[in-house]
Amino acid sequence: MATTPTENRGTWNTKFGFILAAAGSAVGLGNIWRFPTEAASNGGAAFLIIYIICVTLIGLPVMIAELSIGRSTQKNPVGAFKALSTNKFFPLVGFWGVLCGVMILSFYTIIAGWTFSHVFVEIFTFAGWHSAAELLADSENGWINAIFAMLFMGLTIVIIRGGVSEGIERATKLMMPLLVFILVIMTLYVVFQPGAAEGLEVYLKPDFSMITGELVLAALGQAFFSLSLGMGALITYGSYLSKKENIVEAASFVTLADVGIAFLAGLLIMPTIFLAQAQGVEIYDETGNFLAGPALIFQILPELFSQMGGFLGLTIGISFFFLLSLAALTSTISLLEVPTSYIIDEHGVRRKKAALYVGLTVLALSIIISFNTGLIGDIDYIFSVIGLPLGGLLICIFIGYFWKTRSAVDEMKNGFKDIRDSWFTTVWSVFIKFICPIIIVIILAQTIFG
Ligand code: TRP
Repeated sequence: MATTPTENRGTWNTKFGFILAAAGSAVGLGNIWRFPTEAASNGGAAFLIIYIICVTLIGLPVMIAELSIGRSTQKNPVGAFKALSTNKFFPLVGFWGVLCGVMILSFYTIIAGWTFSHVFVEIFTFAGWHSAAELLADSENGWINAIFAMLFMGLTIVIIRGGVSEGIERATKLMMPLLVFILVIMTLYVVFQPGAAEGLEVYLKPDFSMITGELVLAALGQAFFSLSLGMGALITYGSYLSKKENIVEAASFVTLADVGIAFLAGLLIMPTIFLAQAQGVEIYDETGNFLAGPALIFQILPELFSQMGGFLGLTIGISFFFLLSLAALTSTISLLEVPTSYIIDEHGVRRKKAALYVGLTVLALSIIISFNTGLIGDIDYIFSVIGLPLGGLLICIFIGYFWKTRSAVDEMKNGFKDIRDSWFTTVWSVFIKFICPIIIVIILAQTIFG
């Protein structure tokens, strides 16, 4: 029996569920290791302050923009642009978003797989099975990478097949509070350790002499990736949102949650780096820079956990990697949902089939990357460093000059009655038409030609 598109689509059950799902999409590996190490190498609190400014000035307006497009059309990014304008170019922007989603997911799954495999590395190390632990911890082992990528993608597919409220919303409602709980407990533990003060000082005492053009660009790039902007993830999530809800309020909550969790992760990681150093763990690379990203998470932290020793080290180690896996899973869900919703809406495929086909296609790419992890940097550069801000720029241009900010404001009015006469709409419109596009063009030019 054929299903109609609306039967296929689904909606969020509650506003809270939607906010958690969108916050889950935003909170991911980007917050828990990328943010703290960017902050560590960019003057600590100086980066934090610029990051918060970027999130507020660019991130929040673009998030509101994506949610309005989504809710107004109730469609995936490609369908949404088709529905709002006769211009033939913009559906390609939606398509670019779908492609970015597929490509980002293809390598994100590998890193997510590493976080998951490290739960077992911790257990094996504790049990004294050192060769098994070493085997799993070897990120160059293509078979191990592929197996954990399969596991992770399998989990993501199962949740997406469950649909919007029964799958995504139910899963994130369970995972997000758990994530915040583990993060808070771990942070409290670390912050009160003797020797934590040095890390806290680097993190919280701004060194304004560190603010350079490069730092601002890094902070802006981090804002796009971390808030899941620029590829239509929030067009898609917005398309399942009821007209009763207040988009501006929801976007503010999501932004606040994302920044809050990144801030907490900084409180956890920065002192941990210095605690590890006090224990004799090397925290700088040959060039004197912080060992960032994978090295920090997958080398420094496990060493610290094992030096804590015994059951405590084990518990903290397992909790940490489990936490990271949860954060990654709520993000891979949103990355898979975008291409899946595209196939459902535009090609009339049922959700269960669509999720499986798209998931397996992405998995095939992930398996190739499993054996060639050197590809991760290049794919990340093309599709997240360049791709997301480019998408964000085109979304601003679309709203500012084609769909018109007035129409977007009309959409926001559903669920936010007073907005028409508020200063907010004027400010938001100026941001979308001028400020955001100009700043993004500057970043992109710097990234590409700088
Ligand atoms: N925001 C997530 C993180 O910080 C990653 C992510 C999930 C993402 N969905 C996205 C990034 C969509 C860009 C677009 O880890």
